[in-house]
Amino acid sequence: MSPHAQLIKSLPKAEVHIHIEGSLEPEMLFSLAQRNGISLPFGSVNEVRDAYDFSNLQDFLDLYYQGMSVLQTEQDFYDLMRAYLERVHADNVKYTEIFFDPQGHLPRGVGFDTCLDGLWRAIGDCEREFGIRAKLIMCFLRHLDEADAERTLDLALVHKDRIIGVGLDSSELGHPPEKFKSVFRRARDEGFKLVAHAGEEGPPDYIWQALDILGVDRIDHGNRALEDDALVKRLAADKMSLTVCPLSNLRLRGISQMADHPIRRMLDMDLKPCVNSDDPSYFGGYMNDNFSALDKALDFKEDEVFALARNGFEAMFLGSDEKSKALENFDAGVSTVMAQAPRSQP
Ligand code: HPA
Ligand code: ZN
Repeated sequence: MSPHAQLIKSLPKAEVHIHIEGSLEPEMLFSLAQRNGISLPFGSVNEVRDAYDFSNLQDFLDLYYQGMSVLQTEQDFYDLMRAYLERVHADNVKYTEIFFDPQGHLPRGVGFDTCLDGLWRAIGDCEREFGIRAKLIMCFLRHLDEADAERTLDLALVHKDRIIGVGLDSSELGHPPEKFKSVFRRARDEGFKLVAHAGEEGPPDYIWQALDILGVDRIDHGNRALEDDALVKRLAADKMSLTVCPLSNLRLRGISQMADHPIRRMLDMDLKPCVNSDDPSYFGGYMNDNFSALDKALDFKEDEVFALARNGFEAMFLGSDEKSKALENFDAGVSTVMAQAPRSQP
């Protein structure tokens, strides 16, 4: 238990950096493999978990792409999304923006619509059944070329009502944001919000490129921004949201221990970090686990927990009216929590 575990649990939260394929738990990996007649190179759930010992991003991605091969039918995508939404509903996540990777499915013969229809049907059912709200962000795989991303964007154009934005993920080093300049410009012109992973493993220059060449609306990760004072100033001036993923940073060895996590320094430098799970099945935890891991290692003050949770709502890709309402609800939720919850620190 972290010092503010109860507070973390009861706070309303927004998660805006989660790859749905990275929420595939080993148990579901096995059940979908069986359902679809796919053989896996693992004998048991424990063997799978033992394999989740990564040295870097690429190490993880190799398993991530292997894992998603069990996703084949509309029902598979439905089950995956439903399991994630039920799980984070239990963490009191009220709103979530969720990445999906069509280019991880199309080459396997899994259609864009098969994937999108299943994800979307689960979102609709969960919203109706327990009120959680979710939006979809389509990511481009940056290790592939821009022409492939352009073709993927073409497929998304008829689904604008179900996709709020586009993102950029996969192997960062050697694949700078500028490689995707044209497809991001077209996505912007088509009305999509823009976001890119930058500064997870890549240098500060990749964050500059995401801002100045792609024109993103927020940055995924952004940890390495702290190496560049001018960039920190720019991010602060722009009030640019940074979607930070603590357990991911630890498991992919961006930091050697959670006590070294830069998130407090980000807050102190007037940046706008929020807390997210990235790939919760692979990195050992969902939203509250990420908050609690930080809380334990950095000995948070209550104000820091509130600021990080509020930043999650600030980061949302919603119109200003809806966002103001969500922030009002968050502030009201905080007041309720403060009035009711037993707290470990005054
Ligand atoms: N980083 C980059 N690409 C990804 C990740 C990540 O953590 N997860 C899924 N795709
Ligand atoms: Zn990510």
